[in-house]
Amino acid sequence: MTTLLEVSGVSVTFDGFRAINNLSIQVAEPELRAVIGPNGAGKTTFMDIVTGKTRPDEGRVIWGEKNVSLLGMTESQIARAGIGRKFQKPTVFEAQTVRENLAMALKNKRGPFDVLFYRRSSRGAARIAELAEEIGLLNDLPRRAGELSHGQKQWLEIGMLLAQDPRLLLVDEPAAGMTPAEREHTTDILKRAAETRAVVVIEHDMEFIRRLGCKVTVLHEGSVLAEGSLDHVTQNQQVIDVYLGR
Ligand SMILES: Nc1ncnc2c1ncn2[C@@H]1O[C@H](COP(=O)(O)OP(=O)(O)OP(=O)(O)O)[C@@H](O)[C@H]1O
Ligand SMILES: [Mg+2]
Repeated sequence: MTTLLEVSGVSVTFDGFRAINNLSIQVAEPELRAVIGPNGAGKTTFMDIVTGKTRPDEGRVIWGEKNVSLLGMTESQIARAGIGRKFQKPTVFEAQTVRENLAMALKNKRGPFDVLFYRRSSRGAARIAELAEEIGLLNDLPRRAGELSHGQKQWLEIGMLLAQDPRLLLVDEPAAGMTPAEREHTTDILKRAAETRAVVVIEHDMEFIRRLGCKVTVLHEGSVLAEGSLDHVTQNQQVIDVYLGR
């Protein structure tokens, strides 16, 4: 396990308000990491910084074995470097089938040669089936994405991100609006995805976090308040005071 992402001493101020305050987080490869914390703690802003959407005022964001700074890169350069992001609202192509959605995601893969190789090849079809199996939609390949349940749309979008083969996948509140059974399946998808890559998940649902069974980072007022196993951080008095005890 080596460090894939290193955020250190990062601060961001919005109109004089310090949303991120000397934040330092390291993520290994492979790793599954949960990020929790009260509303406004800076969880989403942390992802905005890593993906280049928000520029920090100070600090470093270092990526990969070559220790490249992400701060000088555009959002699309960062995506091409291998960082995928799932937003809260699913953004699948509703009029297309599940298969077509996955095929499009594979076609737009970040490598320079993948477009040449894809073209309805058996390899492409096999990869689509593999991805569909991974997200639990193998039997839904011919269905229009618009007919899927909210949870299934979320899984499809995760599948479309996995099609890009990111080294780091950032997922913001994936379980919001899901049924308990859908939540359970979502943890399975994320755990499996994290066997071969880094996956960082923001979530409020503690049952969900427990099932992930991974290291947890607690953010509060833009900084790391506690980090470690879920049992470790939930016994921390400060964590109880600012988050769990509300
Ligand atoms: N673009 C922006 N302009 C101004 N303020 C912002 C901006 N983005 C975030 N903030 C503020 O920064 C703080 C952190 O917001 P952020 O969205 O990162 O919190 P969060 O931990 O994701 O919260 P939640 O659990 O509610 O999603 C909040 O006070 C928010 O209002
Ligand atoms: Mg948020």
